[in-house]
Amino acid sequence: MANYDLVIIGTGPGGYVCAIRAAQLGLKVAVVEKNPTLGGTCLNVGCMPSKALLHASELFEEAGHSFAKMGIGVPAPTLDLPTMMNFKQQGIDGNVKGVEYLMKKNKIDVLVGRGKVLGTGKVEVTGNDGKAQTVETKSIVIATGSDVAKLKGIEIDEKRIVSSTGALSLDKVPGKLIVVGAGVIGLELGSVWRRLGAQVTVVEFLDRILPGMDAEIVKQFQRILEKQGFAFKLGAKVTGVDSSGKQLKVSVEAAAGGNPETLEADVVLVAIGRVPFTEGLGLQEAGVALDERGRVAIDDHFATSVQGVYAIGDVVKGPMLAHKAEDEGVAVAEIIAGKAGHVNYDVIPGVVYTTPEVSSVGKTEEDLKQAGVAYTVGKFPFTANGRSKVNQTTDGLVKILADAKTDRVLGVHIVGREAGEMIHEAAVLMEFGGSAEDLARTCHAHPTRSEAVKEAALAVGKRAIHM
Ligand code: FAD
Ligand code: NAI
Repeated sequence: MANYDLVIIGTGPGGYVCAIRAAQLGLKVAVVEKNPTLGGTCLNVGCMPSKALLHASELFEEAGHSFAKMGIGVPAPTLDLPTMMNFKQQGIDGNVKGVEYLMKKNKIDVLVGRGKVLGTGKVEVTGNDGKAQTVETKSIVIATGSDVAKLKGIEIDEKRIVSSTGALSLDKVPGKLIVVGAGVIGLELGSVWRRLGAQVTVVEFLDRILPGMDAEIVKQFQRILEKQGFAFKLGAKVTGVDSSGKQLKVSVEAAAGGNPETLEADVVLVAIGRVPFTEGLGLQEAGVALDERGRVAIDDHFATSVQGVYAIGDVVKGPMLAHKAEDEGVAVAEIIAGKAGHVNYDVIPGVVYTTPEVSSVGKTEEDLKQAGVAYTVGKFPFTANGRSKVNQTTDGLVKILADAKTDRVLGVHIVGREAGEMIHEAAVLMEFGGSAEDLARTCHAHPTRSEAVKEAALAVGKRAIHM
């Protein structure tokens, strides 16, 4: 008889949420985790520590720049970086303990060690002492997440040449920070260190930042970041970093080659994406197929090529986002328990937690053009939103894309403060197949920044009130 109904390898947002949902459905569940703490990348070295530092550094900057104009006189703020790092760590500890508590509450066994898939119904768990045990289970879920993508020829030492992990724990503010990659990590962590005093230059291979997000929104966002002091070198690549001297010498040239130059930096952050993590899982021996990008190949029901073995989260296709991993965790648990689990990939919000924030759900204007879909656009700037005006936080806009024939909302994109919270009314609307008219006719509380969403919906029908 099997020891478990379900064994999940990895306790990130995909794995631990899957475990809880499966336990709720009456399955006997164990999770396997190789790290000393639960919660995966997101809780330990990803979403949560970055948000703690974004919060603290934002307040630091506000105290220095925005208080005086509101008549609040405070001495110039000083930075106690170890205390700020301690604040971050307390946040991590609180969340990690929360996951431990949830495992206990749901009677989920935590098996400490490295998991390896031996085939249908068998997982080997090797503890830190090197002792291995084989656990029998009806089903297996692989939720092993992702790892930092390396830049060829550049060795990450997590001190001066860092990945996001090192950038979350620097022991002093770098004078000059070079960020390689203008993606989400580069801009979020670049923001943290710029606010704390670093001079930040972002080197991006493409001719734009945040590939995949709506180009018009991103253009505005780039201008805002430049006003804040970010420098961008677009269409450029880093070809090497000389770390022999006191200052790093970073070789940068045009993406297509040529125009080489050397930039000096105290710290280089490599943030060029993440890759699926499958090391030591024994997938090849077990016959679990990978796709062309090294991700665990799955069908529409998260099933791999081996019977009874499923995979979710960053280790499979789709956006590498914690909430996507969580929703897949719930869906696969429901499927394994004989129910109809499902994830709607057309409505997965994405948020960049800078100031201002950028958020997005559904199709971009570029997506619709490429697909040949006829659409209407409604836009509303925060400069015309009363609440934003009184608070003097008017950067950004809301943009709504709707089907030209049916008025169904196909995409919503926001740059502006609290954009990450505001996107969810659009997500709910889209989940219910709602139209711009539905949104325009929904009463929004005054005065809120969310009124800009309603006004953008009104603008789809060319009848915005405050513009
Ligand atoms: P992970 O969270 O990576 O967890 C995988 C777990 O599996 C790890 O604990 C690992 O130790 C364990 N594991 C791996 N192999 C084995 C094995 N063989 N045996 C036992 N255990 C194993 N996403 C957002 O949605 N919002 C954000 O704000 C956000 N911010 C981020 C900031 C940073 C700096 C980074 C790096 C990422 C961020 N992400 C964010 C992405 C998010 O962290 C991931 O999408 C999410 O963690 C994926 O969850 P997962 O469960 O698939 O894998
Ligand atoms: P990313 O994929 O978001 O961005 C990487 C950027 O690096 C791209 O703009 C790419 O064009 C560029 N690039 C690639 N190779 C390059 C090179 N050689 N030189 C210069 N530029 C190069 O990846 P990032 O920022 O590392 O984040 C990894 C993952 O983590 C993302 O998939 C993201 O979804 C997730 N994440 C999510 C967050 C959020 O939801 N707020 C926050 C942080 C990470």
